[in-house]
Parts: sequence; C-alpha cells; structure tokens
Amino acid sequence: MIMQEKVNELLELRAKARLGGGEKRVEKQHQQGKFTARERLLMFLDEGSFEEFDMFVTHRCTNFGMEKDKPLSDGVITGYGTVEGRLVYVFSQDFTVFGGSLSETVSAKICKIMDMAMKMGAPVIGFNDSGGARIQEGVNSLSGYGEIFQRNILASGVVPQISVIFGPCAGGAVYSPALTDFIMMAKNTSYMFVTGPKVVKTVTNEDVTVEDLGGASVHSTKSGVAHFAVDNEEDGMRILRELLSFLPSNNMEEPPYVPTTDPINRLEDYLNEIIPDNPNKPYDVKEVIYSIVDDRCFFEIQSNYAQNIIIGFARFNGMSVGVVANQPKYLAGVLDINASRKGARFVRFCDAFNIPLVTLVDVPGFLPGTGQEYGGIILHGAKLLYAYGEATVPKVTVIMRKNYGGAYIVMSSKHLRGDINYAWPTAEIAVMGAKGAVEVLMGKEIKNLTDPVQQNEFINEKETEYRDAFANPYVAARYGYVDDVIEPRNTRFRVIRALESLKNKRLENPAKKHDNLPL
Ligand code: HXC
Repeated sequence: MIMQEKVNELLELRAKARLGGGEKRVEKQHQQGKFTARERLLMFLDEGSFEEFDMFVTHRCTNFGMEKDKPLSDGVITGYGTVEGRLVYVFSQDFTVFGGSLSETVSAKICKIMDMAMKMGAPVIGFNDSGGARIQEGVNSLSGYGEIFQRNILASGVVPQISVIFGPCAGGAVYSPALTDFIMMAKNTSYMFVTGPKVVKTVTNEDVTVEDLGGASVHSTKSGVAHFAVDNEEDGMRILRELLSFLPSNNMEEPPYVPTTDPINRLEDYLNEIIPDNPNKPYDVKEVIYSIVDDRCFFEIQSNYAQNIIIGFARFNGMSVGVVANQPKYLAGVLDINASRKGARFVRFCDAFNIPLVTLVDVPGFLPGTGQEYGGIILHGAKLLYAYGEATVPKVTVIMRKNYGGAYIVMSSKHLRGDINYAWPTAEIAVMGAKGAVEVLMGKEIKNLTDPVQQNEFINEKETEYRDAFANPYVAARYGYVDDVIEPRNTRFRVIRALESLKNKRLENPAKKHDNLPL
C-alpha cells in the first residue's frame, strides 16, 4: 500500500511537470501557431522512443520572489530518443516557463545531454523558443550560455548539431545555433537577431519590424544564417528527419546506406542535349542533378540563398553524397562572396562527416567589381578553395561546360586532390573566355584596324581560333587534368563507378594543431 502511494506521488509529480507553465500559457502558445516543447519532441522522434531526463529539476533563484514559483523541469525538456531507429539527443526550450528563458539549471540540463551525445557519438537537435537569458538570474544565466557555447565548439565536427528556431532567439543566445551545423527557422513564428528593433532604432535610427530584421525569410535569402525556412512546424519535423537520414551519427561512422531500385546504368539521353549551342544561354543544373541521383531525389540546402551555387545531399546507388553545383541559371553560375561561403561551409561539413563530394562544374569565373573586391572576395573565394583542398573524402568532379581561370582550380580540380575528374565533350577549360582572351592578346592589332567592319571580322576570326584551340576538354585531357571525357547521358553510371572505387580511400593531412582557414 505504501509502495502504491509512492508510485502515485511519482505519477502526480510527472503530471505536474507535464503542465509546464500552465494551461493558459499552453493555450497562448497554440494560439500563436506554435507547439509546446514536449509536443515538438513527440512529433520529431520515433513514436514511443522519447526518454526524458531531469523532469524534477527546478531553478535555484531567490531574486524577485522567484523562490515562490518553481515549475518542475524548469524552462527546457531534455532527453534522448530515436529517429528511424537511430539514437539522437534532444532539448526543447519551453516558452510556457518564464518565456523559455535560460537559467543556470536550464543550461545544466542542456549541457548534460550534450555531454552524453559526445560520449555516445549521437547528433544533438535543439528546439529554440526562448526570451533569452533569465533576467532574474543575471550573470548565472550568462555563464549558462557560455557553458553551452563551449560544448557546441567541442562537439563541432564530432557529432552533427542541428538548431531549430521555432520562436524567439535573440541577443547572445543566437550564438549557440550559429555554432551548430544547420539552422532551421519557421516562417512567421520565429526570429533571430543580435539586437532587437528597439535597440536598432536607438542606435541606427532605422525603423524595422521583427520579421524584416530577423525572420525566416531574411535569414534564408539575405544573410544565409538559416539553411531551411519551413512553412510550419510539422513540415520542419519531416525535413529534419530527412536531413538526418543523410548523416552519420558521428565523425567516426559512415553515413547510412539506403538501398535503391534505381538502375545504376540508367541512361539519360536528355543530358546529351542539355547544353545549349549558345554559350551564353543558361540551363537548370538542378535538372542534371535530378537525372543522375537515385530516384531523382535531391535534398537541397539553402535553396534561396546564393542561388548561383547549389548544395545539398543525394544518394548514388544508396551512398549518401554531398552535391555542389554551379547554377548557370542564376548569375551565370559565377562565384561571388556569398556563393563561396555557402559552398565552403558545406564542403567542410561533408568532409568532417565522411560524406563524399560530387561537384558539377559550369563556372565562368569569379564575379568582378568593386562591391566584391571591397567585400573581400579574395578571402571568401579562398575559403572554397581551401575547403576543397583540405577535404580528404572521395571527390568526384564532372565538368559540364565553362571552367575558366581561378574558378577552374577551385571547383574540385585535380590540382586540389580531386580523385576522379570527368568532362563532358562540351567542356571549355581555359584561362578565360574567348572574348576576354582576344581583347588581351590582340588589343594592339584590334586598335590598329580603324574600319569597324574589318575590326569586327578580325575579332570574330580570332575568337573562333581561340575557341577551337581551347574551348574543349581535350587540352586538359591531354595533360591528365581530366581523367576521361564522358558521354553526358552516361554520367550517373560513371559517377557511381567512381564513388564505388573510392570507398576505401585513405588520405590524411599533415598533423597540426588546427588549420588557419582564411576567415
Ligand atoms: C525571464 C522572461 C524572459 C527573460 C520572457 N520572460 N523573457 N522571464 N527572463 N529573458 C517571461 C515573461 O515575463 C512572461 O512571463 C513570459 O516569459 C512570456 O513573455 P511575454 O513577454 O508575455 O511573451 P511575448 O509577448 O510573446 O514576448 C516574448 C519576448 C519578450 C519578445 C521574448 O518576452 C521579451 O522581450 N523578453 C525579454 C527578452 C530579452 O531582452 N532577453 C534578454 C536578452 S539578452 P509571464 O509570467 O507573464 O508568463 C540575452 C543575453 C544572452 O539573452 C547572452 C548570451 C551570451
């Protein structure tokens, strides 16, 4: 009987903890189109898999009468569970408890699951919905953030870390998500900024709304901070689970293999026609990606940011692969500051987590102009170059069309330890395009011709001469800078074979404390 009473007490305590900040606040959360912290975890994890930690933790603050209000679990729900049967650690900030603000104990709960995730080699997924530092706790709350940041840093490159922003995330609190690998934001209900609209008004006299300062659309199109902007939380859960399906649980594992019925030697005749006759005409590189990957399934990342470069995950004969492709349809696929940063971070993520890289190249070069030079394109372009050069995962490259100048080297060339580099017959590999080359090489001769008709004829003749000599893959192929010239319709088969051959690749960089990537 006594035993039963004790069990009942436990059940009562559990029920109390599950109420969070109380019915009214839960109702408000729902009215705002948001789920509660626990609901989110139950939606995200495999059914029945959630194991909660620290349900009975309460804050220790005694300032401002806080000792009279000690909700069980404090402002965050933590624990572990599975996604498609694979272990993950989770935390979910509870906005119904002091606005999800971060207390010393909230931080300790988050740090506990981060430490466990590191020991077990499992990803950490954090749902953020918080008013920031718990104001009543002062510096103890700040120290709590510091503890989390430090763990984010140490876990970086060891286990995948994903931040989901489903509410406010402001002030210094934004730096935990910023230190993680992927950030997802929900449209209209989430925002991220270092300083809010009121402070912005005081300091810069700008009038700006919360949404325009740090909403999901701003961060997924302008700043590049967010990798995914989702319409609602349910959509977000589906995308998160799909993202995890491409990733290994830690840096010592290979990504999961997902069998496919898509034939490896599937020919795509359409690819033999995709490159337009006119070199200035664009085409959609995503069509090439869809045609060569398993089941036309491409999981794009940062799809609305720096669209001149496309990044995302796909599978080739069941193997998880990171795809990087120049997009001729957007700014002619040129490399600029944003595209270089976007590409570099993705390449480094894939390299850290043993995910092979397939690079599809059609790049006219780096974007010229004072805007780019003043913005530091030299350093940002170097990031992408560095990322490819240091990567030791299998690297397969297909040059489809333009591949000029510095961009030729950057885009996973043989010179940066590209393992298998193919070119389509339409590839043009040279120092620069025909027009620019003729202007530089024949400048004097062109000037000496005073008759404009004669001048045009001369330029056309020289451009054709240059194109015939250089705008093809065979010069590079003669030097072994491409391993083979392949029929475009055969690309899927050739890439799969290349990846299969590279499965046991072993390559190590020289021992060092860490590198000095041009930041
Ligand atoms: C304690 C907080 C809180 C906080 C909100 N609450 N933020 N309690 N510390 N930081 C409480 C509120 O008092 C309220 O309690 C409940 O949470 C819900 O808040 P509301 O204001 O009613 O909600 P809403 O109208 O939706 O507005 C949400 C909000 C606002 C925009 C987040 O609460 C707000 O501006 N909060 C303060 C944000 C802030 O300045 N934080 C510190 C940032 S600096 P009741 O009892 O009424 O339900 C920072 C530094 C981190 O975070 C540094 C790391 C290095």
